[in-house]
Amino acid sequence: MYIFNTIKETTDYLSRQKEQGLRIGFVPTMGALHEGHLSLMRKAKEENNLLAVSVFVNPIQFNNAQDLDKYPRDLEKDKRLLEQVGCDVLFAPEVEEMYPEPETTTYDFGPLEQVMEGASRKGHFNGVAVVVRKLFDIIGPHKAYFGEKDFQQLAIIKELVRKYELPVGIVPCPIVREPDGLAMSSRNERLTPEKRKTAPEIHRILNEARNKTGSLNPAELKDRVTKEIEKEPLFRLDYFEIADDTYLQPVKSWNRNTGTMGFAAVFLGNIRLIDNIRFI
Ligand code: PAJ
Repeated sequence: MYIFNTIKETTDYLSRQKEQGLRIGFVPTMGALHEGHLSLMRKAKEENNLLAVSVFVNPIQFNNAQDLDKYPRDLEKDKRLLEQVGCDVLFAPEVEEMYPEPETTTYDFGPLEQVMEGASRKGHFNGVAVVVRKLFDIIGPHKAYFGEKDFQQLAIIKELVRKYELPVGIVPCPIVREPDGLAMSSRNERLTPEKRKTAPEIHRILNEARNKTGSLNPAELKDRVTKEIEKEPLFRLDYFEIADDTYLQPVKSWNRNTGTMGFAAVFLGNIRLIDNIRFI
């Protein structure tokens, strides 16, 4: 595995590979890698000639200084896991390399960024879009892989690619869960044993909700799930929404022709976890 810290080394190496006709699959990450990340990488490795991964904790997508500060970092462990999945190129820049000057680019994703994560974490998706576009420019991938765990992020990236006609195929990948149902996340590492034990309740409640779509309308179901989550003393609900799977806008009724999902964000202490589930 080649490990590069500078943009120049990375573009020089990868453009030579592309000249030889190799196809590049790319997985952007913030490190603290787990099986969720690795599943994206295995798929990218399978579908391309060369796997490139970035590990960069992107400061401009954090709207909470403490969350950035406490974000888990372990590059040595990440490197070992990357070797195991057959990563060919790791791009792991310092902040100064990615942002030599303060970043001023602003994107407008309209209603897509005005709900859920966009509403709760102001500036978050702008920071994500800025870094992902920079990374696409540096890596020049044929395909890039994103997890449905961050479903709204995936929708934002698809919109970024569509709007600016970026020459990259976006490949969505299913959520990977712990055996007890908790969606894997780098932030899970920070949960106390007691909170870790309670965290899978989020998925259990969403799963149970899926079985009630026959008997409750979306408003009733939203009310039910909200109460269920609020009943758990270790949880503080940020939001639960039932929304379509394209524009992520709230739905008023079930419609077989509209892909519909449930989205939750829950605080356990100061750790915020998100999860989602498909209803239709
Ligand atoms: P990060 O949280 O490290 O996630 C990197 C990729 O792994 C994202 O596409 C995310 O959706 C996916 N992922 C995380 N947990 C997953 C799980 N349990 N199952 C499936 N996929 C999972 O998302 C980011 O980093 C950043 O915002 C980034 C896109 C790298 C831009 O900074």
